[in-house]
Amino acid sequence: MARNLVEKIIAQHLAAGEMLAGREVGINIDQTLLNDTQGTMAFLQFEAIGMSAVQTKLTVVYIDHQTLQDGFENADDHCYLQTAASKFGAKYSKAGNGICHQVHLERFSRPGWTLLGTDSHTPTCGAAGMLAIGAGALDGAVATGGGPFYLTSPKVIRINLTGRLQPWCTAKDISLEVLKLLGTTGNAGTIIEYGGPALAALTVPERATVTNMGAELGVTTSLFPSDEMTRRFFVAQQREAQWAEFLPDENAAYDRVIEIDLGHIEPNVAAPHSPGNVHKLRELAGMKVDQVLIGSCTNSSYRDLMMVAAMLQGRRVNQEVSFGVAPGSRQVLQMIARNGALNNLIDAGARILETTCGFCFGSGQAPKSGAVSVRTNNRNFEGRSGTKDAQIYLVSPEAAVAAALTGKLTDPRDLGMAYPEIQTPAFHIDDSMIVEPVGARQIVRGPNIGPPPFNDPLPPTLTGCVVLKAGDAITTDHILPGGSLMKYRSNIAKYSEFVFRDVDPDFPRNCQANRERRLASIIVAGRSYGQGSSREHAASCPMFLGVRAVIAKNIERIHLANLINFGIVPLMFTADLDYDRINSDDELVIEDVRQALSGNLVAIRNITQRYDFTTKCGLTSRQQAIVLSGGLLNHTKSAQQPGECR
Ligand code: F3S
Repeated sequence: MARNLVEKIIAQHLAAGEMLAGREVGINIDQTLLNDTQGTMAFLQFEAIGMSAVQTKLTVVYIDHQTLQDGFENADDHCYLQTAASKFGAKYSKAGNGICHQVHLERFSRPGWTLLGTDSHTPTCGAAGMLAIGAGALDGAVATGGGPFYLTSPKVIRINLTGRLQPWCTAKDISLEVLKLLGTTGNAGTIIEYGGPALAALTVPERATVTNMGAELGVTTSLFPSDEMTRRFFVAQQREAQWAEFLPDENAAYDRVIEIDLGHIEPNVAAPHSPGNVHKLRELAGMKVDQVLIGSCTNSSYRDLMMVAAMLQGRRVNQEVSFGVAPGSRQVLQMIARNGALNNLIDAGARILETTCGFCFGSGQAPKSGAVSVRTNNRNFEGRSGTKDAQIYLVSPEAAVAAALTGKLTDPRDLGMAYPEIQTPAFHIDDSMIVEPVGARQIVRGPNIGPPPFNDPLPPTLTGCVVLKAGDAITTDHILPGGSLMKYRSNIAKYSEFVFRDVDPDFPRNCQANRERRLASIIVAGRSYGQGSSREHAASCPMFLGVRAVIAKNIERIHLANLINFGIVPLMFTADLDYDRINSDDELVIEDVRQALSGNLVAIRNITQRYDFTTKCGLTSRQQAIVLSGGLLNHTKSAQQPGECR
């Protein structure tokens, strides 16, 4: 039978279930990627479930998010992660070596393999033909211990790329075009497979920009075939022996095929406050710009920064623009330092930022009040920059430089500049900041590092109070702000004090009041609850405060998995009217909830308003068992090995 790339990888890695539409399958994971945001909790959970050695072919821990050391907390986490990696058998990429996705693509990607990462932009490695999926820390811990990862057998959309990008039109503009086409919601359970004749001219770093921003679609992942262009990338990385051709069968079937002619793509921009709010850049040209930032795992490859340097050569950025550049990896930084391109950036007036995530998630570079900030990263959610009333516009590096030079949103085609041709030489290889595990050593734990949170098994009857009624598109940043607060990620009690800080500052206090009344807390929300990052704390911290159920119009994939993993009952409204009718502080009861979860529909009684309504559940039997146990930690502990958790 002819198979597409997704079917091939799943078939080769199938650990449980059958590949039938809508059914859950478990797949074996070849590699795991643990970043420092979720890695500490992942290793704490790994220890808590009794694991003592990494069971994957490769696990790499990256220090890339929490590098701002404005206290001992982040440095203590780095030390914990380095010693835990050494003890358990994982490689450790030190702070300064680069952003996890870019470094992993450069140094560890393998066509046809599976990768599970504790970060929502893990699909970046789909650029090299991997099935690369983002997840929470607990799923990362279980996969690192050899357990399968579960997903719903996906629908596969083929996006067929034809034609050729015109000068000044970029891979970022392809990503934004796809977002314009498919939107940021309604794509759950889907994987995008790219193909078509245009791939012959699309480099792996350009493909990585496309797979990276696939996360904003809400799809499970995106991937490209591994072809001659991929081979050239592996050769340039001195890893040709790790390259393999990986193509779909000729008559492979897809659930949907979309055609995009790259020759028709123009410079695009995602306007505030959603990556799906895409416009043609020319429509917004002329808007005054206060800040321009280039970097992140979306757009800081060698090619991107060489383009930036070429455009800036002999020029200075506008005096009213604050301009920063963060190379995505030390490899790229070393290469632009050696060939002199870094000087172009410095001479033009760039602030050279650390080789890390930084501004992308609001760790530094917060713009001034009400600023217009133009950035090359992938998310522009309200407040994510660190300034609540800032307006963030997402563009390509070319368009970012155009804005930096003119002080206004500018279509780079209107600069009147000759289009620089960028050649990629052999990459500079220096893995000296990737520390090999040396075996049993003491794990060092600072005072900010606490135990992972456990939940209680689900009670026979769930009685709770609606602690918050939220609207649509609540992101994980709304649930739990990131930025500098993330230094508390290993201290669940402390981090929980900030749950819904920017939505309802009384949330933790109200949860405590419910607890004192012996009531669970229940969150009610609209569409796309939990979109954005894979931050598991957006589930574990509410759980710590006593949240036991979320009832929403729909819940995004990774967050849904995180809720289940922490024993929080996820339910969906069957009618918008039921959402409209419910109020904050309403008391709800689900009788015989343990039994009720085995059905597709769950009846809820609104005690306060005296009416009944029905919600959808749809948990698989594996997910039911996890929720009944009070979460994956309890469930896994009761099995002998993570691999037995099926
Ligand atoms: Fe880091 Fe932003 Fe990517 S936080 S992993 S650069 S999405």
